[in-house]
Amino acid sequence: MPYTKKIEQSLAELLFREKNSKLQKAMGYSLLAGGKRVRPLLYLHHLSAFRTPIEEDYRFGAAIEMIHCYSLIHDDLPAMDNDNLRRGKPTNHIAYGEALAILAGDGLLNLAYEICFELAIEDSSFLTMGQALARAAGDKGMIYGQMLDLSYEGLPMDKALLTEMLLNKTGKLISLPIEAAALRAKRCEEEINSWRKIGMDLGLAFQIKDDLLDVDSTATILGKTPGKDEKNKKNSYVQVYGYKKALEDYHKLQGSILEKIAHLSSKESLVEFYKTLLERKY
Ligand code: IPE
Ligand code: IPE
Ligand code: MG
Ligand code: MG
Ligand code: MG
Repeated sequence: MPYTKKIEQSLAELLFREKNSKLQKAMGYSLLAGGKRVRPLLYLHHLSAFRTPIEEDYRFGAAIEMIHCYSLIHDDLPAMDNDNLRRGKPTNHIAYGEALAILAGDGLLNLAYEICFELAIEDSSFLTMGQALARAAGDKGMIYGQMLDLSYEGLPMDKALLTEMLLNKTGKLISLPIEAAALRAKRCEEEINSWRKIGMDLGLAFQIKDDLLDVDSTATILGKTPGKDEKNKKNSYVQVYGYKKALEDYHKLQGSILEKIAHLSSKESLVEFYKTLLERKY
């Protein structure tokens, strides 16, 4: 079965395995609304370059996606980016109200770690991976990046801090599945570090592309409202450097990532996955 189909199945099974109350319904509204599933796909593609993924790996991939999805629900709240369209549907708080949207996000975050603990009890290699996930998503990672993003709205941000913000709010959760795959396959420390580095480059590129799409795409293609970064006075890569330079930098970064991955792995499907991801249109 292709990865995406199994990821979708795993997400639905894990979400509804015990209860299907109004809360799980609100969680499922966003979690099961499509989405590119980039983070679990990164985990599975990298892992398969080392060894065959097993059922537990789909559960770990699902846990990463749950954390990502919670971050989107909260990111869209009126107190944050105040968005009303996500994954082609009204945002969670538009559909369920703010209180339930906050709880749906909290629910997904906790369910993700419940799954990580279950995995770690079964197989101790998930301990280090769960710890790495918590760091990438937490106050030294995604949440820290979101804090920078929100607290600098309308304020000047220097280029070093901009990079720090992009690497934290997005880069670390893109790098995490790559690093986790290397940890799971028990690669040596030097190799794990090389994968983490390419993951951070990919994560930076991923957010620059998100910032470019915000100005050059449409709601129908994106499934979210474009033009929001300027409206919210965000320090996006495009707002700080200008569209032309942002596009140029993106292409440079894209070239250097593809060069590095060609050195790191000879697995054709992995290289193809990088290409597709870097050429994404939404
Ligand atoms: C959007 O992430 C938010 C960012 C961190 C850039 P994705 O582009 O992965 O969104 P989905 O999961 O496909 O909806
Ligand atoms: C979001 O960045 C990063 C997160 C950690 C959720 P954005 O705010 O630019 O993401 P979109 O454009 O709303 O998806
Ligand atoms: Mg945001
Ligand atoms: Mg946003
Ligand atoms: Mg954006």
